[in-house]
Amino acid sequence: MKHLISILAAAVLLGLASQAQAVNEPENVIKYRQSVMKSMGGHLGAIVGVVKGEVSYVDHVAAHARGINEMSKLLAGLFPEGTSQFEFAKTRALPEIWDDFSKFEAAAKALEAESAKMVEVAASGDLGAIGGQLQNLGKACGGCHKPFRQKK
Ligand code: HEC
Repeated sequence: MKHLISILAAAVLLGLASQAQAVNEPENVIKYRQSVMKSMGGHLGAIVGVVKGEVSYVDHVAAHARGINEMSKLLAGLFPEGTSQFEFAKTRALPEIWDDFSKFEAAAKALEAESAKMVEVAASGDLGAIGGQLQNLGKACGGCHKPFRQKK
């Protein structure tokens, strides 16, 4: 009986270990980071709607900017080695990301700075100023997409 229990315990442990290995599979990391990117796309699109005057939610802009700012801090961690387009067809992450990762991190830092600036500008409620900062914010997205994301 004791023997059986220890076998069962070992089996459970093994099961947990193999489960732990399945976490952070490259495909899952790719899917996850694409979700994070889409969330930033959603926030940016929402700010665009306000700046265009399609909606009057000027008081929401800071929240969207904060969302982008929080995500910008996570970006560098979402690109572990072995998750490039060279290895997986479903990602648009170019191998150039890992040629000089500090450049990629700098692009993420630039977004962190521009989104923080947007939080400040949004407090003014001045649509013109928010529109101006929106340009800088968009440039920070493009500043990384251009060198590091494959074109469609
Ligand atoms: C530091 C680099 C970097 C920054 C900054 C960045 N992106 Fe990305 N983005 C990428 C890369 C690389 C991909 C491709 C990811 C993949 O396919 O695995 C991507 C993909 C995307 C996608 C497509 C996601 C999908 O469904 O495949 C969207 C949308 C997106 N980004 C929006 C944004 C927005 C909006 C911003 C700015 C607020 C931004 N990104 C800033 C690097 C960046």
